Amino acid sequence: MYSVFGSVIMQLAEGVGEPFRSFPIEMMRYGATGVGGWGSLCGVVNGASALIGLFHHGDDDGKIREELNADVCLWYENEALPTFQPENPALDARITASISGSVLCHISSSAWCKAAQCDAFSPQRRERCRRLSAEGAMKVVDVLNNKANGRPDFVDIAPEVHSCIECHGSSGQRDSLGMMNCMACHQFDGEHP
Ligand code: HEC
Ligand code: HEC
Repeated sequence: MYSVFGSVIMQLAEGVGEPFRSFPIEMMRYGATGVGGWGSLCGVVNGASALIGLFHHGDDDGKIREELNADVCLWYENEALPTFQPENPALDARITASISGSVLCHISSSAWCKAAQCDAFSPQRRERCRRLSAEGAMKVVDVLNNKANGRPDFVDIAPEVHSCIECHGSSGQRDSLGMMNCMACHQFDGEHP
């Protein structure tokens, strides 16, 4: 969270000055490892969403913010990441790319550890998260710039998740909140009840 948020704010501090120069970016360290080590929302998504909130807080009942946020979440859930190859990596290793299937740190990092056959506390896993953070910073800047340039590139949630939400969401039986990829946690062997 700190690296996604900080890298964008530090560039703005350089290019624009205040109020970015005095923004207390250190506060964003709270988001590390899915918020204080709890493995919940991945800091990459949390940091990107904080940046989206910084630039889109008043508009349109939050509609634009939600759409830009969805762009980041769907990218994070569905792309094989990381692909970014730093010029001077902190750890000079080949880092496997994997599809997280979830915005949650716990699920995302476990899926990566399985794919890469690395343990969750290994230097490779840390390097994976560093590169993923760099890629998240690039992604959110793209999303914000595309919006600012009138080229929003809204992606839609998967049809399967759409169908779950149709029945379980606000206009259905109203027993489920959210738009995360349901299949990360609910897998039905054969028949859905
Ligand atoms: C056509 C409507 C419909 C669709 C589509 C649908 N569900 Fe359901 N779902 C139901 C109904 C009806 C129940 C039973 C509700 C009950 O027993 O109260 C249910 C039950 C569930 C339960 C509770 C299961 C249990 O053991 O009690 C979960 C979890 C669930 N659905 C998840 C999903 C997910 C995830 C998807 C998408 C892959 C999905 N549903 C798609 C209608 C739907
Ligand atoms: C991170 C894991 C996770 C994800 C992702 C997730 N769920 Fe769940 N869901 C749970 C857990 C845990 C429960 C609680 C199960 C229980 O208490 O039996 C639950 C409960 C439910 C229930 C049952 C509510 C009830 O009254 O019995 C429904 C329906 C449901 N989820 C639908 C969905 C849908 C639709 C999605 C996708 C939009 C989704 N879930 C995404 C973990 C998840």
